[in-house]
This record gives sequence, structure tokens and C-alpha cells, in this order.
Amino acid sequence: MEGSLIKVGIVGCGGVAQVHAAVLNAIGETKLCACADVKPERAAAMAEKYGCRAYTSLEEMLSVEQLDAVHLCTPHYLHTPMAETLAAHGIAVFTEKPPAMNRAQWTRLKALEGKVPIGICFQNRYNQNTVFIKQLIADGTYGRVLGARAFVTWSRGAGYYQDSDWRGRWDTEGGGALINQAVHTLDLLVWLLGRPDRVEAALQNHHLRGIIEVEDTAEIYMDIGCKPVLLYATTAYAQNSPVMIEFELEKATLRLEDKSLEIRTPAGVDRHVFTEPETLGKGYWGNGHLPCISDFYASLRERRAYQNDIGSVENTIEALVSIYEQGKVSLHS
Ligand SMILES: NC(=O)c1ccc[n+]([C@@H]2O[C@H](COP(=O)([O-])OP(=O)(O)OC[C@H]3O[C@@H](n4cnc5c(N)ncnc54)[C@H](O)[C@@H]3O)[C@@H](O)[C@H]2O)c1
Repeated sequence: MEGSLIKVGIVGCGGVAQVHAAVLNAIGETKLCACADVKPERAAAMAEKYGCRAYTSLEEMLSVEQLDAVHLCTPHYLHTPMAETLAAHGIAVFTEKPPAMNRAQWTRLKALEGKVPIGICFQNRYNQNTVFIKQLIADGTYGRVLGARAFVTWSRGAGYYQDSDWRGRWDTEGGGALINQAVHTLDLLVWLLGRPDRVEAALQNHHLRGIIEVEDTAEIYMDIGCKPVLLYATTAYAQNSPVMIEFELEKATLRLEDKSLEIRTPAGVDRHVFTEPETLGKGYWGNGHLPCISDFYASLRERRAYQNDIGSVENTIEALVSIYEQGKVSLHS
């Protein structure tokens, strides 16, 4: 790939794939050569828009194309097996979240570590406010972290699930509000604070009982180095409200809501508003796909580790699968 454009394919040409295609088109060092979807009209539409070739499966695409990297924008249950297929072909993988949806898949995915570059789309790690908070915590400017809490209160109605052939089911989505909508917030908490020593969770289905198998609400307690870290996530709210994440430090409270970060100390409130680049997808997905994907290709070019590699998501995915292993009990009781 040196000296020329990196040849990329996308598999799964639904909603989020449109953002990946736009980013690949914008960053200059990649060429979107091919795309595949089991719904031929979706692959055809993307192929026409970006001047690439359309296929109806990953396997068909790989049998014809010589690709350097493939983006996985398929439903959750397909990320790990498709990563295995790509690794067997020696092709780099950039996968949408979650990279694995249960412990068995996670074990299989970890076995691919080091075989080919694998990047994971936790794009909110690249948000300016996240980078700023990470630095404040690392510097110790406001002392040690004592605890954290986060709220993800979004809206997903019956139609969202009924219009999809994979959402709302354990075997294809692997969960609901947590694994799909709030997984970015779980990731930020764990990425910034470390591996939980203990996780307790209650999963509920308040408003979509009988419509989906999975939870519409998750209440999570994590003990991270003797600090309480609390996450409440639901898709049963009236709208997609901005995510709120708050870190309690010895000398300040850091409160992040949308693009605004408030630093509250006894001396007053210091407010920072971060102007992120224009979003390429839905506003509540955040603006991070561009820097997250750009950095993946920069890491390939520079032959260095990628920030969002498998090792970097280990604590998040361990917490995620542990939450489901024990939270499912409350959902079914
Ligand atoms: N990072 C983010 O902020 C973000 C935002 C939205 C979605 N996502 C993730 O992206 C993934 C896709 O979500 P979406 O909203 O685009 O879903 P979607 O249903 O709109 O798109 C999935 C596409 O995959 C195709 N597909 C299914 N099985 C396939 C197969 N075997 N081979 C090829 N194509 C196949 C479907 O036909 C569909 O077009 C999910 O993992 C989701 O969690 C991430």
C-alpha cells in the first residue's frame, strides 16, 4: 500500500456505512474500491455514489478484489466472524462497535490480535472534550478521581426494532440499550478510569416488552479501584437527550454534556465549549468518525499501534459481557 492509495472495502451498506464511505472519500489516502450488502440495492446505491464495485457478500467481494482493509458496518453478530474471515486473508479490519457481542466471540476476536491490524470504532475517544478530560485526569490538576456517573436517556420506539431484521434479539444484537446505544459511554468511563474490579447490573424492559427480547434500560454499578462508577442507560425516554458524564475529583466536579464541559470548584464554574468538526452522521453519534478512521489509516502508514486496537478495548468488552452475563438474570425474573 506504500506510495499509493490504500484500497478499502465496506461490508454492510446501511445507516452508519454512509458515514464510513464519506470519511474514506474525504481523507485522501484511501480509495473506496468495493462494497457489499446482502440487500443488493444498498450496495448498488453506494457503488454508484462513490464509483466503486458492488457485491452481495463479503466472500464474493474478497474473491474478486485485492483489498488492504475492510470496514465492518454489519449487524453486531457478524463483526467477529467477518474479522476472522478478513484475518485469514491478511486484510486489515476496521469494525464498528461492538467488536464482539458475547464472551465466546470476544475470546475468538482476541485470538486475532497481532495477525492483522484491527481497529474498533469507539469514535468518541477522539472527541476534543474527551481528550481534554483525559489530560485533566492524567495531570492530576484537580486531584484523584473519587467516582463518576453517566446518563444516556434516548428514545427508540417499536418501529425502530420492527423495521430492522437484527435489532432487539439476543442472537443478532446481543443486547439493547447498553450494547447498542450506551456502549460508547461505558467505553469512555472504563477507558478513562480503568478496569472494573466488580460489576453489578440490572436490565429491564419497561416499554417494549413483548416487542424486543433485549433490555430497553440498564442500571450499572462498577467498582473501579474502590471508586463507584454508575451508568444509567435507557431508550425509553421522550427524545435523544445529550449524554451526561460527570467525574467527581478531589478538587472539582467535571461535568460533560454534549459539547460543553463545566469544571465546578468552590471558586466557581469554568465552562468550556468545544467546537467539533461538522458531523457526518446523526448528531448523537458524535463527530468522531473522521479522526477515528483517519488515525487508523495513519497508524497503518506509519506502522505504529492504533489507539483503538483490541488491547485498548479489553476492559470495556470485559465489562460489557460481564454486565450481560449477570444482568440477564434480572431481565428474565
Ligand atoms: N459508531 C457509531 O456511532 C454507530 C452508529 C450507528 C451504528 N453503529 C454500528 O454499525 C453497525 C451497523 O449499524 P447500522 O445502523 O448501519 O445498521 P443497518 O441495519 O442500517 O445496516 C446494516 C447493513 O448490513 C447489511 N447486512 C446484514 N447482513 C449482512 C451480510 N451477511 N453481508 C453483508 N451485509 C449484510 C444489511 O443489509 C444492512 O444494510 C452496528 O454494529 C451498529 O451498532 C455504530
